[in-house]
Amino acid sequence: MKIMGSNIAALGILTTILNPISAIAQNMSYGADNFYRSNNVTIHPISFPTQYRTTVAGNLFIPDTLTTNTSTPAIIIGHPMGAVKEQSANLYATRLAETGFITLSLDLPFWGASTGQPRNAVSAELYAEAFSAAVDYLGSPHQTIANVDRARIGALGICGSGGFLISAAKLDPRIRAIATASMYDMGAVSRNGLQASQSVEARMEVIAQAAEQRWTEVDNDGGEVQYTGGTVDELLVNSTAVEREFYDFYRTVRGEVTPRGSTPELTTHPTLSSNTKFMNFYPFNDIETIAPRPMLFVAGDQAHSREFSEDAFARAGEPKELVWVSEAGHVDLYDRTELIPFDRIERFFREGLV
Ligand SMILES: *[C@@H]1O[C@H](CO)[C@@H](O)[C@H](O)[C@H]1NC(C)=O
Ligand SMILES: *[C@@H]1O[C@H](CO)[C@@H](O)[C@H](O)[C@H]1NC(C)=O
Ligand SMILES: *[C@@H]1O[C@H](CO)[C@@H](O)[C@H](O)[C@H]1NC(C)=O
Ligand SMILES: *[C@@H]1O[C@H](CO)[C@@H](O)[C@H](O)[C@H]1NC(C)=O
Repeated sequence: MKIMGSNIAALGILTTILNPISAIAQNMSYGADNFYRSNNVTIHPISFPTQYRTTVAGNLFIPDTLTTNTSTPAIIIGHPMGAVKEQSANLYATRLAETGFITLSLDLPFWGASTGQPRNAVSAELYAEAFSAAVDYLGSPHQTIANVDRARIGALGICGSGGFLISAAKLDPRIRAIATASMYDMGAVSRNGLQASQSVEARMEVIAQAAEQRWTEVDNDGGEVQYTGGTVDELLVNSTAVEREFYDFYRTVRGEVTPRGSTPELTTHPTLSSNTKFMNFYPFNDIETIAPRPMLFVAGDQAHSREFSEDAFARAGEPKELVWVSEAGHVDLYDRTELIPFDRIERFFREGLV
């Protein structure tokens, strides 16, 4: 390369090659609006206990049009894996409340304002329990904020929460209608990688690292928590398309938040020693037993995660529907309001919660 010291443009390129790409403009196309607030929906911060006496934090969204005290159907919304309810879940909850449903967004245990130590721990079982705990809360006679018809409670899970919700629904027939958006099977991806790209040897290496980290924590009376996976903290010129996709949401003003008691950098990073728990998570086993409760799977036809919706849909019993959003990727369905088929999702719950 012939680069002269005075050549500013060439220096710029050189700097880009050597350094992280900082200050990349976020992509706000197709109506990206993660922090949307409605002027006809009232938000009530809430919390409720799980069966294991941990506390889940949530928001209850009540349509202002619910002036009469009539029993109303409700929808529980779970956020993407490693995120918080302020990321994507509140948006879905708000938009569905605008159509007349009572909605509830929640922070999964160990994340956001929900309790659980250590922070960012992985337990698919406790994540699934949060959905059932939300049903308890909505249908409880002690809950006096909203008049919920406990026979008409549905739920929607985004990304990893799609799998956690399916896991919950298998054991909780009180969840009457089940929808997912950009669903991720955290079990399959942890074991095999995307499109079976991870060998069993590589899986065993990850398991060995987590086990070694346990020794480190034992040897040091707890030790320093190590985090793994998740969204990269900086983009490099060799960053993959998937890394860029997540970065654009979680590491820019498009979707970045500062969770209570945490930092934005820790968003989507589970603890190293607990992340392997996902390898024992098989959310689609027995998925057919959810029938005849209806299931809706929504995914982008360009999504890197589309294999998970396809797999779940193929195994589910009837009635079921798989909706491909044309030209949409995985993260697009977190916040791009012109791509998320809210009308279709509303109709699903309107027909499913009767
Ligand atoms: C912005 O995102 C949209 C939706 O995924 C995509 O079609 C478009 O190519 C992106 N634009 C840029 C400049 O990356
Ligand atoms: C609304 O109706 C429920 C059950 O029908 C009743 O328990 C509750 O007290 C009523 N609330 C108000 C504010 O009238
Ligand atoms: C609330 O406002 C939104 C956005 O203006 C609108 O689409 C929706 O129909 C309204 N909902 C109700 C129940 O008035
Ligand atoms: C990009 O390069 C860095 C080192 O420069 C390396 O650590 C990283 O793993 C690479 N990323 C990918 C996705 O290849």
